[in-house]
Amino acid sequence: MEGCGLMLRIGMLTSGGDCQALNAAMRGVVKGLASDNREVQIYGFKDGYKGLIYNNFSMLTSKDFSGILTVGGTILGTSRQPFKTMKEPDKNGLNKVEAMKRNYYKLNLDCLVILGGNGTHKTANLLKEEGLNIITLPKTIDNDLWGTDMTFGFQSAVDIATNTIDCIHTTATSHSRVFIIEVMGHKVGWVTLHAGIAGGADIILIPEIPYDLNVISEAIKKRTRAGKHFTIIAVAEGAISKEDAQLSKKEYKQKLAKRKYASIAYELAEQIQEKTDQEVRITIPGHTQRGGSPCAYDRVLSTRLGAAAAQLILNKEFGYMVGVKAGETIKVPLEEVAGKLKVVDPNARIIKEAKLTGISFGDK
Ligand code: F6P
Repeated sequence: MEGCGLMLRIGMLTSGGDCQALNAAMRGVVKGLASDNREVQIYGFKDGYKGLIYNNFSMLTSKDFSGILTVGGTILGTSRQPFKTMKEPDKNGLNKVEAMKRNYYKLNLDCLVILGGNGTHKTANLLKEEGLNIITLPKTIDNDLWGTDMTFGFQSAVDIATNTIDCIHTTATSHSRVFIIEVMGHKVGWVTLHAGIAGGADIILIPEIPYDLNVISEAIKKRTRAGKHFTIIAVAEGAISKEDAQLSKKEYKQKLAKRKYASIAYELAEQIQEKTDQEVRITIPGHTQRGGSPCAYDRVLSTRLGAAAAQLILNKEFGYMVGVKAGETIKVPLEEVAGKLKVVDPNARIIKEAKLTGISFGDK
């Protein structure tokens, strides 16, 4: 789709779970576009891809993006629209992909800026393949997007989870108990790993390093023998035992569907209590990890990524996610990002260094 002369028409949407700095990133894009002298019209689609499918948008101006650098959430709203359902018709038989294309062309857009995580990028790449001009920005507290060292939202979530562990630490010093803090991350353990180290957790359990319950209880007992009367465990939502890691994806899903516990923290609590005879308490910060104002790091990152995205748009370079590598902003072809997950490498130096400080990952 060729540009439309002097006026720039930019569609924008935020998709998937929200995170801090979505607004900051959109502000970065709009401010970056203003560096050009053309008039810019922003079509803000409501609630992610849903807005694009059903042509539900607001006309926005640069003023709408003023004063939102520090505001959490997303002024556009968001929703989860799983990639696998994109090619299925909606309940009225509407072809969603065709509808998105139709609305894009009807509005005569020069580019669609999409802010999202993994699933969002699969659909963004599909739209690119269908011929639309797409630029994306990497948002997610999970930090699991391929092709970028960092996603915005991650550092803010780490700060919040760390604060939770810090608060638990002070009460832990008064009681002889095991405290389990369940941190967000079903598929990856980046937030748990960083918050765990930052908060001084004794045991960190992440999906990438399956745990052995015996190793966990031995680590707790060792602390008790050393005169340390409490233990803090940071566990990712998706942490998995060595035993369960042997199951096929399907078998594990079926097992989880039958699990009697609300989440991994409750399952571990019961098992640890049985094995160590210690009292266990659970804390789940949940969606607070995605809430509130973005931390300074995320404000800087998202502003830079937004401005770099604007630059690509002005240069008519489409089909990229803007990311960051070794501190510099980069562009990554969407087809390289879509469908890949950036997981924690169990052999990474950060894991070895954490182990050197005495942190147990429950593996050996
Ligand atoms: O993808 C971000 C994330 O916050 C995950 O860490 C978490 O597991 C999930 O979203 C929660 O999703 P929802 O907000 O749909 O409950």
